[in-house]
Amino acid sequence: MSEILVSRRNSLRKALLLAMSGSAGIAPGSGATQPGAGKSRFLVAYFSRTGNTRVIAGQIARAMQGDLTEIEPAQPYPEDYLQTVDQAKRESDAGYEPSLKAMVLDIQSYEAVFLGFPIWGMTAPPVIRSFLSRHDLAGKTLVPFITHGGYGTGQSLSVVAQKAPRARIMDAFVIKADQERDTLERVTRWLEHRPTSR
Ligand SMILES: Cc1cc2nc3c(=O)[nH]c(=O)nc-3n(C[C@H](O)[C@H](O)[C@H](O)COP(=O)(O)O)c2cc1C
Repeated sequence: MSEILVSRRNSLRKALLLAMSGSAGIAPGSGATQPGAGKSRFLVAYFSRTGNTRVIAGQIARAMQGDLTEIEPAQPYPEDYLQTVDQAKRESDAGYEPSLKAMVLDIQSYEAVFLGFPIWGMTAPPVIRSFLSRHDLAGKTLVPFITHGGYGTGQSLSVVAQKAPRARIMDAFVIKADQERDTLERVTRWLEHRPTSR
């Protein structure tokens, strides 16, 4: 790995720590409990179906030297996009919180949790509500990072605030990411014109 890359990563980590060191955040060497040697102060927890959020999670974990964990429902969502949209809508409308494949058992050892998810149906996916309901983030710094297909964050930040009422929630990192639906629509348009032979 080049020295420039390492130095960039260190600068990013310092910048993020500094950003979090305001009155509502944490500071390096602030006297907060230090977890055991080799254990990170930062957890990067994310849900991702098609990989957009996963890429960002990996980048944050590397830059912050954080521990990385994937949030997964006990029962995976269908492979098919439209079936997933339907299921997610039904679950969100019903306020259903699916079981998680695994819990983060030592969540208390982290000072800050970076929480990543895609926007589903203009809100946070049901599994994110499950994660927040089942893990106590009281007193921790919570940094959301969100990917969406072009319609913004919707109700998701209110959901995070409601489900983690005692966490110190930082400004979210929000980014539009390539959308499965765009791809499907383009393929549909292409198929409508029927591929022809020369
Ligand atoms: C079930 C479902 C619902 C979605 N709903 C929205 C939405 O309401 N607004 C939006 O901008 N994007 C929506 N998207 C697009 C995703 O938020 C976007 O592509 C995201 O980057 C996917 O992240 P991932 O690759 O980490 O799964 C939806 C995608 C799926 C699968």
